[in-house]
Amino acid sequence: MVMAGSPPKINRFNDNTRTQPLWLLAGLTYACPLQCPYCSNPLDFAKHKYELSTEDWLRVFHEARAMGAAQLGFSGGEPLARRDLEVLITEARKLGYYTNLITSGVGMDEDRIAAFKTARLDHIQISFQAASENLNNQLASADVFQHKLAMARAVKKHGYPMVLCFVLHRYNIDQIGEILDLAIELKADYVELATTQYYGWAWHNRNRLLPTREQLKRAEALAHQYQARMGGKMKIYYVVPDYYENRPKPCMNGWGNIFLTIAPDGTALPCHAARQLPGLTLPNVKNHSIEWIWHESPDFNVFRGQGWMKEPCRSCPERFKDFGGCRCQAYLLTGDARNTDPVCDLSPHHPTVVDTITAAHQQTPLPANKNKPLIFRHPRNSKKFCG
Ligand code: SF4
Ligand code: FES
Repeated sequence: MVMAGSPPKINRFNDNTRTQPLWLLAGLTYACPLQCPYCSNPLDFAKHKYELSTEDWLRVFHEARAMGAAQLGFSGGEPLARRDLEVLITEARKLGYYTNLITSGVGMDEDRIAAFKTARLDHIQISFQAASENLNNQLASADVFQHKLAMARAVKKHGYPMVLCFVLHRYNIDQIGEILDLAIELKADYVELATTQYYGWAWHNRNRLLPTREQLKRAEALAHQYQARMGGKMKIYYVVPDYYENRPKPCMNGWGNIFLTIAPDGTALPCHAARQLPGLTLPNVKNHSIEWIWHESPDFNVFRGQGWMKEPCRSCPERFKDFGGCRCQAYLLTGDARNTDPVCDLSPHHPTVVDTITAAHQQTPLPANKNKPLIFRHPRNSKKFCG
C-alpha cells in the first residue's frame, strides 16, 4: 500500500464525545503484484492471510456511514486483486460515500475502468515508482511501467479526475522534473509528490531511502517552479519529509479523531501503522460494531485528547494543533509511543532523528536493483518477520 493521501484537514477538538470516523480507509487485501521497498503494509503481512468477506465489508460501510463517515478509500495491498471491488464500490456509492480507488493500476484494464464508471466510483489515484521505465520497474520488481501509462491514459479517457502519486525517496527524487513532465503529458489533475513515510517496509529500508538535504532543496525548488507554471491547471502537492522539519505532522489529525482504517482481516486501526505498536489489543469488526470500536474500545481511546501526553507536549500550547505528532514515529524512534514525536525539536529525543539522518547519509547510494541493499516487500521476505 502507498499511503500518499493525507486525511482531509479538518480542525476538530480531539475528544471522544464529539468525534466521528469521517474518513474510512478499507485495506481490502495485502495481496499485491508489486514489491515496493517503501510499502506501508506491516512487515509481517504474510501471516495475515484471512480476508473479510463481501458481506463483512458491506456491514462495515453501513455502520461507518451511519456514524457520519463521508469518504471511503479502497486500498490494500492492491485493491484490484479483490474481484468484488465493483460490488463494494456500487454499495458504497449507494450509501452516499465519496469513493476513491488507491491503486498501482496493475490488475486494471479498460473493461474494469468502465465497470467502475457504472459503479459510480468518484476518483482514481494511480501510483508510479519513477518517471523512467527502468527505475520504475526496478522499484516495483515488475515490468509494469508501460501498463501504468496505458491505464493512466484510459482513466482520463473515461472522464475520471486523476491523481498521480509518486512516492519520493533517494532513488527517484532527482527525477522530479521528469516526474512532473510525465504528469503533464498524462493530463493528471493532481500530482502527489509524496515523500516516503518511514513505517513498515520504508522504516526497514530507511537508511537507503532517506534523501539528502541537498536533494530535497533541489526537488522543492523545482516543484515550486512547476506549481507557478501550471497554476490551477494541474495541482501539485509537495510535502518535505518530516524528519527534516522541527515540528511534527498532526498525524491522522489526532488519534481516533476522524480516521479509521480497517485491515484486510477486519482489524480496526486508528492509523495504518498502528499494528506495530506494542500493548494494543486492536479490535476486529468480526467481533465488534464500528460504534463500539470507535467510542468504547481501549485502543481508540488510548491516545485521544491530551491526558496521555508526557512533557514537553503536556504543557505545550501547540498540543491542540499537532497532537504531539505521530505515535508510531514516537514508538519507532524512542521505544515509547507516549513520548513526544522526536521530530519536534522540543523533544529530548530529537537527536535520534538527527542521528537517523546522519546514519542514512553514511550509506553509499547503490543501484535500486532487485537484490541488496533494499529489502523488497515480498511474501518470502515478510515470512522472516512473522516470528
Ligand atoms: Fe507539538 Fe509536543 Fe512539540 Fe509541543 S512539544 S510542538 S505539542 S510535539
Ligand atoms: Fe500511526 Fe502516525 S502513523 S499515529
